[in-house]
Amino acid sequence: MKKIILTGDRPTGRLHVGHYVGSLRRRVELQNRGEFDEIYIMIADAQALTDNVDNPEKIRQNIIEVALDWLAVGLDPAKSCLFVQSAVPELTEMTFFYLNLVTVARLQRNPTVKAEIQLRNFEASIPAGFLIYPVSQAADITAFKATVVPVGEDQEPMIEQTREIVRKFNDIYGEVLVEPSILLPDSKAEMRLPGTDGKAKMSKSLGNCIYLSDSEDEVKKKVMSMYTDPDHIKVSDPGKLEGNTVFTYLEAFSTGEHFRKYLPEYADLDALKEHYTRGGLGDVKVKKFLNAVLEDTLRPIRERRKEFAKDIPAIYRVLEEGSRKARAKAAETLGEMKNAMQINYFADEELIRSQAERFKSEAE
Ligand code: TRP
Repeated sequence: MKKIILTGDRPTGRLHVGHYVGSLRRRVELQNRGEFDEIYIMIADAQALTDNVDNPEKIRQNIIEVALDWLAVGLDPAKSCLFVQSAVPELTEMTFFYLNLVTVARLQRNPTVKAEIQLRNFEASIPAGFLIYPVSQAADITAFKATVVPVGEDQEPMIEQTREIVRKFNDIYGEVLVEPSILLPDSKAEMRLPGTDGKAKMSKSLGNCIYLSDSEDEVKKKVMSMYTDPDHIKVSDPGKLEGNTVFTYLEAFSTGEHFRKYLPEYADLDALKEHYTRGGLGDVKVKKFLNAVLEDTLRPIRERRKEFAKDIPAIYRVLEEGSRKARAKAAETLGEMKNAMQINYFADEELIRSQAERFKSEAE
């Protein structure tokens, strides 16, 4: 069986360091390892509209931002098919068929959807399109026969729901669809990078994100005002690591190389942690180190982003070409589905012949 990746991002804003450690870095690695036969990376604009119905302009503006972030981190259109969800209408058609394979009760039990309904105060008036977006996500994944879906843990319920739909479809109509498996980030720090204020969720409205496109000054300002241990007042005080955002970021970003380069007096992160908890290590020193580590990662990304931004029409052409390729693949799968579902009337000569026969004999 072919090894195929599909994953995607909602275009609701520029991508930040949480996206980077949680998924972008992994995607580039998987892309460059070369062991996958096909890789599809999707801008989930139709899904983003399910809870931004009154703000299509936001989605429209952010398509190019997401595409630039992707190219800047190293996704390569020659190796990965970069496309836009709404440009593949086959996905919508599949969704319509899949909707008959799930119950409303099952959708209402989806933990991620449940949490989002609360967050958006949808309780009394859930848009139907929002409730069913996990089904549309199943279409995104199965249209490409993806075997692996690299995502964050909040997407686990979506993959589970996709697997259920696949099993049900194959049970009823025959083996057409492929059950995907989820590929989660390796560590907790990568899975859930907190905001710079220490809050669990990074969000634009909280102003607690470091964006891949932030300038050197912006990054520095955000790092120097990052949440640490509020009880660590004097340098000599022992510091706490739990909930200490600076250390969580170091876990996600720092390598042995960084220690040799910037803090050779410490063997590794464990040694730095040990000193911090013992007392005698100030926040400013740790923050300066984190800033240097982040700059090593973000500078090349920022520079590539600027280069790509010099030819915006070319980026739209990349997405258009990717969408054309994605559409061809989705159409192929949809064709197989419709054959299995026997809704291929006009191509089914046997059906036409036998119906003709039946009517002829009835008429006799
Ligand atoms: N729900 C994903 C998110 O919010 C985006 C997405 C849409 C996706 N379709 C997908 C991710 C299919 C993986 C596979 O980030």
